[in-house]
Amino acid sequence: MCGIVGYIGKREAHSILINGLKRLEYRGYDSAGIVTIDTPSNSFTAFKKKGKVADLEKAISGKSSKGKIGIGHTRWATHGEPNDVNAHPHFSPSKKLAMIHNGIIENYSSIKKELISKGHKFDSETDTEVFIHFIEHIQQNNGCTLEEAVRLALTKVVGAYAIVILSKDQPDQLIAARKGSPLVIGIGKNKEEFFIASDATPIIEYTREVVYLNDEEIAVLRGNDIQIKSIKDIELTPYIQSLDIELEAIEKGGYDHYMLKEIFEQPRSIKDCMRGRVRLKEKKIVLGGIQKNIDNLINAKRIILIACGTSWHSGLVAEYIFEEFARIPVEVEYASEFRYRNPIINKGDIVIAISQSGETADTLAAMELAKRKGAINLGICNVVGSSIARLSDEGVYTHAGPEIGVASTKAFTAQLIVLTMMALKVARYKKTITEGHFEELLKELTLIPEKVRKVLELSTAIQKIAEIYKDATNFLYLGRGYNFPVALEGALKLKEISYIHAEGYPAAEMKHGPIALIDEEMPVVFIATRDSSYDKIVSNIQEVKARKGKVIAIVTEGDALLPKMVDYVIEVPNTSDALMPMVSVIPLQLLSYHIALMRGCNVDQPRNLAKSVTVE
Ligand code: AGP
Ligand code: GLU
Repeated sequence: MCGIVGYIGKREAHSILINGLKRLEYRGYDSAGIVTIDTPSNSFTAFKKKGKVADLEKAISGKSSKGKIGIGHTRWATHGEPNDVNAHPHFSPSKKLAMIHNGIIENYSSIKKELISKGHKFDSETDTEVFIHFIEHIQQNNGCTLEEAVRLALTKVVGAYAIVILSKDQPDQLIAARKGSPLVIGIGKNKEEFFIASDATPIIEYTREVVYLNDEEIAVLRGNDIQIKSIKDIELTPYIQSLDIELEAIEKGGYDHYMLKEIFEQPRSIKDCMRGRVRLKEKKIVLGGIQKNIDNLINAKRIILIACGTSWHSGLVAEYIFEEFARIPVEVEYASEFRYRNPIINKGDIVIAISQSGETADTLAAMELAKRKGAINLGICNVVGSSIARLSDEGVYTHAGPEIGVASTKAFTAQLIVLTMMALKVARYKKTITEGHFEELLKELTLIPEKVRKVLELSTAIQKIAEIYKDATNFLYLGRGYNFPVALEGALKLKEISYIHAEGYPAAEMKHGPIALIDEEMPVVFIATRDSSYDKIVSNIQEVKARKGKVIAIVTEGDALLPKMVDYVIEVPNTSDALMPMVSVIPLQLLSYHIALMRGCNVDQPRNLAKSVTVE
């Protein structure tokens, strides 16, 4: 995971690097470090510190360099514990090369062994330090340029990387390369300066012109010049694109946390996701991004949805929607499992990868596998230009805007909108839905933003419930039908940001095991809106109450029965069963936010996690 930044140009690099790292901190926050080259001495000034970028800043205070070229890193540790020594940048034995790295070098231990046998000594436990030693070793052995040594090293390493290298001997040059981990290059005015980062957020305040580096490409940036080569040594023409994200979209905008801002943005992000696509007057859904594959979707014998985490949960909801309306069999797969089986893909199968970041390593690898096996690959991503988006044959962006909080919220509801639009569009073509029902659902879709807004008004009431249960050690989340994946999502939200153990289950499964956990200490969150399984879930609630469990129920407005039966109710507006997850998940997002805050947890950057999981 980790975030990397680089700068070369006419300004002082230090503050550009530090600000960039702050924007990328959601990607990892185990340690941070920067190195710049000072002129005229051409010496490195490096700082590395365990913890957040703010800790690094404190450590540097008053000692920052004036160098106009530098690189910076915020780490999510894979090899070696988070400490000052393992923090990046790492250096070559001669200390002439410095490198930052995002990813994992899988064959690092055999390379390390070989280098040790040749007398190399390592300061850190990281694969990254082995990597930069290896590059210098090749350069010295072959007597070649650094660029060539990097290229040769890349042909030998196995794994994933986005790297940037700084050399004291060439203080006017940055070398960057990627495979599997993202890297964007920002091009300043008249190519007088260049920015490098894991995503565009550190770049947009300086320039909108960017080049997304592709896998197995190496970029060399020198004053006024950008050169891109493949690792097969073929010269490539940089493809310059224009970015259209606004800076304010990635700032907190008055909220205490990104997560809270993103929860509250949902009425808008859901609307943005439907804009121009759900056309009520014309009674149709327009999804230009999958237009070429619409016949393939209509004729699909099977759809396989691949994703991880929250995106996997949206896939589970989509399974119900596609099967109910479009009558296409759907399988929802954890990308990490799919990629290591030998999955059966038949001609005409459609694989849809769902990913907020578009960079999740497992999802990307699963997609590559599906592609090799001949599937049609569609992508649903939030980050424009991300690796998954680029690998897809076609796809639909969720347009939720940048999601910075590590816990996914607005990306989930936007994914649900996209998947619903796709399913309804296909259902209509297939005539597996009546015109009347299609129009009714279309209308209902346009009402979702307002219904979500109404649920957000309950934040203070939910805060009170959070106060009561903030010290619980376990939580159960139960739901049926469309609300079952919502139960899984509610449990994931709570455990990842508050560190309370929580489990989501289909409510009817409770009696097959989890019921043994119920006692007067156990809060159970039921998502019990008025849908086709309402009566059944009422019975499940009774089973919990009979065992003195504490029940918090998400119910439909006007429910007269459940408020009398349970301990706390949260009322949400009614909508069609298939659309309810977009509404019923909101109180669960708020509940976990408030509980985590009351427990003193870092809501936006929970421990051990990172926003974009670019390692497997
Ligand atoms: C969500 O709250 C999680 N932090 C995580 O499960 C996330 O959904 C998962 O890593 C997938 O990410 P993606 O959507 O960017 O592929
Ligand atoms: N493997 C490297 C390390 O452990 C980089 C990890 C990352 O991508 O953050 O330091």
